[in-house]
Amino acid sequence: MSYIPSVSRYEEMQYNRCGKSGLLLPAISLGLWHNFGSVDDFKNGRSIIRRAFDRGITHFDLANNYGPEPGSAEENFGAILQKDFGGYLRDELVISTKAGYTMWPGPYGDWGSRKYLITSLEQSLKRMGLDYVDIFYSHRPDPNTPVEETMKALDHIVRSGKALYAGISNYNAEQSRQAFSVLRSLGTPCLIHQPKYSMFVRTPEKGLLDVLDEYGVGCIPFSPLAQGLLTDKYLKGIPERSRVANPHGFLKEEDITPDKVDKISRLNTIAQEREQSLAQMALAWLLKDKRVTSVLIGASSVNQLDNNLDALKNLEFSGDELTAIEDVLAG
Ligand SMILES: NC(=O)c1ccc[n+]([C@@H]2O[C@H](COP(=O)([O-])OP(=O)(O)OC[C@H]3O[C@@H](n4cnc5c(N)ncnc54)[C@H](OP(=O)(O)O)[C@@H]3O)[C@@H](O)[C@H]2O)c1
Repeated sequence: MSYIPSVSRYEEMQYNRCGKSGLLLPAISLGLWHNFGSVDDFKNGRSIIRRAFDRGITHFDLANNYGPEPGSAEENFGAILQKDFGGYLRDELVISTKAGYTMWPGPYGDWGSRKYLITSLEQSLKRMGLDYVDIFYSHRPDPNTPVEETMKALDHIVRSGKALYAGISNYNAEQSRQAFSVLRSLGTPCLIHQPKYSMFVRTPEKGLLDVLDEYGVGCIPFSPLAQGLLTDKYLKGIPERSRVANPHGFLKEEDITPDKVDKISRLNTIAQEREQSLAQMALAWLLKDKRVTSVLIGASSVNQLDNNLDALKNLEFSGDELTAIEDVLAG
């Protein structure tokens, strides 16, 4: 069936400025790491993308290696773009991809060389059927490649028109500072940083967020639900349909420790008192920091996506609620 986007798609979403750039991003963005590969149900993925756009999600995040098979999430997304988002709708989308993890055999299909980044983006564009992406990321810092080489490759990519903006992911505070300085000196300021950040992983609070603020770089936390841990789904064991039960999933049974379940249960009670799901509270909790531009969620169903988007209905926290959450996280 042909897709006609909802006419009210921009009415409920909140759009936040990405750092000090001109680009606005939706407060909630959708990532295609899981659920969009060749092992997944294409129709389900297509429904999720359509629903996301209908509810104001304009930003979709990919990487060369998303699948499995690596590359297949970009292929499937390209097919969805072609079927549903042809013509003028491309201009309403912010599409990102990355290179940094193993993609092809031999010395040129991994890490952060100019060779890898530029050739990988060419492959990504072909898989998605695009002339350009909006954001191209260095997916992780490379200890063996000078940061100048990796950043010059991003600068070149932006100047060539194959990406509109440059981003970095998984760089720590000091590595980010170096990368931002190089990019700034080249005249291609970094748009955005993509760190792992959630109630359960708070590393960015130890310096990274301050560096982003100082350089005017946006922040889009990935795995804001800790891959599904910050929902009510693991409170009574491991459901058959869950990332832990999925043989291709990156969340493992050993991640569901009794201590984690206890914390999840106590957080769930606080969320219920706020008349929110735990997933909604976990997203709102990240968005309360104005340095956070957008939270980058995953979803395996339209229902999950809808539930998560309803987080935007209550983004406020009282002092008591924040203290109660800190008590659980510290305990
Ligand atoms: N830059 C990087 O290195 C990096 C690394 C990882 C991810 N990312 C990006 O971040 C995106 C999001 O990562 P993520 O998928 O780990 O994010 P997440 O939002 O923390 O976890 C998403 C998963 O949680 C479960 N879930 C979501 N909403 C739920 C709800 N309302 N109720 C119950 N379960 C729910 C679903 O898994 P199940 O239903 O299958 O259990 C869903 O696939 C990725 O797609 C990718 O774009 C980037």
